[in-house]
Amino acid sequence: MQDILKQYETVTQADVKEWFFVGNVSDFPENSGACIKYKTKQIAVYNFTRTSQWYACQNLCPHKMEMVLSLGMIGDKDGIPKVACPMHKKNFSLKDGSNLGGEDLKIATYPVKIENGNVYIGFSD
Ligand code: FES
Repeated sequence: MQDILKQYETVTQADVKEWFFVGNVSDFPENSGACIKYKTKQIAVYNFTRTSQWYACQNLCPHKMEMVLSLGMIGDKDGIPKVACPMHKKNFSLKDGSNLGGEDLKIATYPVKIENGNVYIGFSD
């Protein structure tokens, strides 16, 4: 089970080797999540229209290894964009993937780029 988790590692802008096209802006719901596939990874993508920011993270919740984070409610906690897992409501920062409840759970985050109405996610593999 932990093997599934191992394939998810945070990618920073500087690490990006490939900007993977995942669709047009209009393909994604506003203020909620969608799930895309890259190789063997499931990635959750969120469009925050209030702040005009996009975020991406692993779809896998590290709590019980459920592929559900794209279905989570998004919002912010003290200015930090976050997603709440729909299963047991654990909150994760979409900026650095940390668990906002202070637990030792972390998710991988990925950079998102919007260009000419197209959405790209940065990967390093
Ligand atoms: S599976 Fe996500 S909080 Fe439990």
